[in-house]
Amino acid sequence: MPAPTPEERRELARDLGSRLPAGFVLGAATSAFQIEGATHEGGRGESVWDAFTTQPGRILDGSTADRATDHFHRVDEDVELLRTLGIDSYRFSFAWPRLQPEGKGALRQAGVDFYERLLDRLDAAGLTSLATLFHWDTPNALEGGWFARDTAQRFGDFAHLMGERFGDRIGSWATINEPATVTLEGYALGVHAPGATRLFNALPAAHHLLLGHGIAVQALRAAGVTGGVGIVNVHSPVVPATDAETDVAFAELFDVLHNRIFADPVLLGSYPTVPEGFEALFSALGEVSTADLQLIGQPLDFYGLNYYAPTRIAAGSGAASTPDGASAAMASLPFHLAAWPEYPSTGFGWPIAPEYFGTALDELATRYGSVLPPVFITENGASFPDAVEFDPATGERQVHDGARIDYLASHLDAALRATSGGGAAGAIDLRGYYVWSLLDNFEWAAGYTQRFGLVHVDFADFTRTPKDSYRWLRLVAESR
Ligand code: FCB
Repeated sequence: MPAPTPEERRELARDLGSRLPAGFVLGAATSAFQIEGATHEGGRGESVWDAFTTQPGRILDGSTADRATDHFHRVDEDVELLRTLGIDSYRFSFAWPRLQPEGKGALRQAGVDFYERLLDRLDAAGLTSLATLFHWDTPNALEGGWFARDTAQRFGDFAHLMGERFGDRIGSWATINEPATVTLEGYALGVHAPGATRLFNALPAAHHLLLGHGIAVQALRAAGVTGGVGIVNVHSPVVPATDAETDVAFAELFDVLHNRIFADPVLLGSYPTVPEGFEALFSALGEVSTADLQLIGQPLDFYGLNYYAPTRIAAGSGAASTPDGASAAMASLPFHLAAWPEYPSTGFGWPIAPEYFGTALDELATRYGSVLPPVFITENGASFPDAVEFDPATGERQVHDGARIDYLASHLDAALRATSGGGAAGAIDLRGYYVWSLLDNFEWAAGYTQRFGLVHVDFADFTRTPKDSYRWLRLVAESR
């Protein structure tokens, strides 16, 4: 299929804008570690990611996030970019080690001041906020990280202090971002910080993250926050590579590992049934108490859904690769991620398969039915190798990222169709859509090699250049 023309893309923007339900929130998302930089300022403590990036071979381009996008020093400029984008809401995360350098004790004033400034600027720009309390930057001082049950308690204490301090200023609170990724990439496969390769023995980290979520929900509410409280989970529909029994069985196993272990306890108050024959793999989870499950399964005000791509699973240990990096640990598993040759792919190699966004929403509705609270798409986006060009007539800096526009257009369309149609997802109360990401940033193990931004960032001098996708999203916002 030929790529759409610029006018066709504008027409799509107008169409999508006109289809957004009244009150639907349009937003853009970032996370602290990926954009802030200033890792040694204001008495900020070290996070597991600071430690991880200094270990040789961990980050694809050998980089650190010491400066990232220099957002810490460019808050005003970045909020101005959000304002002129014409969207309603900004999803950002609080850096735990900037606020509690050791993961405990009083909030550090320099950290509080930084976020007060951000929130002041957002207020002045007329934007609401969706603040994530934990987007992966665990204070390194917390012994054992999320493998230790005590970290859940420390996180709850942090949530309470944050609720007391910022409770009247935040539009919505997300406790934890993608516990699945933290568990699988960070504790099972060692691709992310802290780099542990425990495979199935990583499951206690999952439980402690979920427990941390539950304790934080309670703490935020006890602190009297005015905004709604939820969690952000990444969902990826899982399909077997073939109809062979083993492929089907491992696909079912992966669905449990990636999706259900993190959504079922939160929404249903119980862990999913382990597929037959795989029970022994889950023994590290041990006996889970009813008290823990009650905490984890407290009713939420919203459910945050991150969607990027589907996953295809085949039996047998295949090429040692995960979506964002090679992992030797992955190669030791009895299954592997298989390719999607029938779809075009993003810079990361992820398949561009918008119809699976509809599948993810259908699954959510089918599995959780009436207990599913209102849903926000808290992340959706794509990386492409964008480059700055100079307009020959005006000399203006431009980034022509038509592929990102097409990704966003097809995915927003798929989400709106699924949730307004006659299928299972029609029952979902979809309240908003946040693009990942406002800015090109530090993409974890991939360093600065993957650009997800609506705004291009030059990582040498931090110049911001709005891309064509930025103007496109603005047109969507204007067309409401
Ligand atoms: C998600 C993360 C986010 C970003 C995108 C590309 O898993 O939540 O920080 O890395 O992927």
